[in-house]
Amino acid sequence: MRSAILGASGLVGRTMLDLLARQSWIEMPPLLLTSARSAGQPLRFRGSELICREVAAESFASVRVALFSAGATASRRWAPVAAASGAWVVDNSSAWRREASVPLVVPEVNGRLVPRLEEGEAAGGIIANPNCSTIQIALPCAALDRAAGLREVHVTTMQSVSGAGQKGRDELAGQSAALAAGELAGADRPGPVFPRRIAANVIPEIGGPGDDGFFEEERKVHDELRKILARPDLAVTCTATRVPVWTGHSAAVRAVLSRPLERDEAVAVLGGFPGVTCGATPADYRTPAEVSGDARVHVGRLRHEPGRRDVLLFWVVADNLLKGAAWNAVQIAARLAGAEAR
Ligand SMILES: NC(=O)c1ccc[n+]([C@@H]2O[C@H](COP(=O)([O-])OP(=O)(O)OC[C@H]3O[C@@H](n4cnc5c(N)ncnc54)[C@H](OP(=O)(O)O)[C@@H]3O)[C@@H](O)[C@H]2O)c1
Repeated sequence: MRSAILGASGLVGRTMLDLLARQSWIEMPPLLLTSARSAGQPLRFRGSELICREVAAESFASVRVALFSAGATASRRWAPVAAASGAWVVDNSSAWRREASVPLVVPEVNGRLVPRLEEGEAAGGIIANPNCSTIQIALPCAALDRAAGLREVHVTTMQSVSGAGQKGRDELAGQSAALAAGELAGADRPGPVFPRRIAANVIPEIGGPGDDGFFEEERKVHDELRKILARPDLAVTCTATRVPVWTGHSAAVRAVLSRPLERDEAVAVLGGFPGVTCGATPADYRTPAEVSGDARVHVGRLRHEPGRRDVLLFWVVADNLLKGAAWNAVQIAARLAGAEAR
């Protein structure tokens, strides 16, 4: 099966390439597509060098599965072109997530929405990969919804700079060095990526503001969690913050259930859900630095709100480049191919 990565030179695209190299169902080297900026850049795949090419209308001619990770503008332009040429696009951007006809997939939760590609079938299509912080919240929320019915989800995220791509990492590195050298004072906007200084700081703002006071990232968590869980009635609120962490998003979640759930039962439900681990004791939690390179979602600090056996509080951590982006996309691609992602 011929595959392609659009945005191959980016943080997520390079992670996708590393993951594809491990998949036995990927027989041919993937086609690496970028903008003109990175065309000609070499990237390693299974010990040899592949060259990035500028994306063009004819790029998708023989491609069956195309992993897109090049931002919403490029996705809006190229996903219909790829799908019309017979490719199935797994799109990592926000471009298609809200379209009713486009499945928004976390394989462990709603993987049944992914069709299996048949030999000789010519049709293509688009499947959306959810927002990175939504994916890691969706897994424990799906587990709790099935076990005890979710009524409300309230979440505060602490999102790493790699969620803003390579330039987000570069901005934190540059500011950290300037701060250490005494060259940076105050918290005004010193770089193009984040709205305030991110080094040694926390910024309660991701994406653009809306009239209702929520920012774009918070709206994504609200809309996407409802769509993934097929729960349009679910009450969801989010406060999204950017923190000076290289990789790994964290979230503090308050989940209101339809019936009381004992702590031991909740630990078993969460830890038994595919792709999730759950710490049973108060200090058995993970931090972003500990989960870098780990494709699972880690739940910890599980406890009841005082006086409420139907309200659970917990901490969720995952590598945003893996389960939050590239791994989830490769899992979807594997389902399309009728294979197991590894
Ligand atoms: N980082 C995360 O944790 C994360 C998680 C979930 C989803 N996402 C989404 O994944 C996408 C990429 O994120 P990233 O973190 O990998 O960003 P990144 O490091 O900035 O990489 C962006 C990639 O997209 C390519 N690109 C940009 N504009 C293009 C265009 N017009 N035509 C073709 N290629 C273009 C770039 O190619 P050039 O090198 O040629 O510019 C580069 O390969 C974004 O939509 C982001 O929202 C990211």
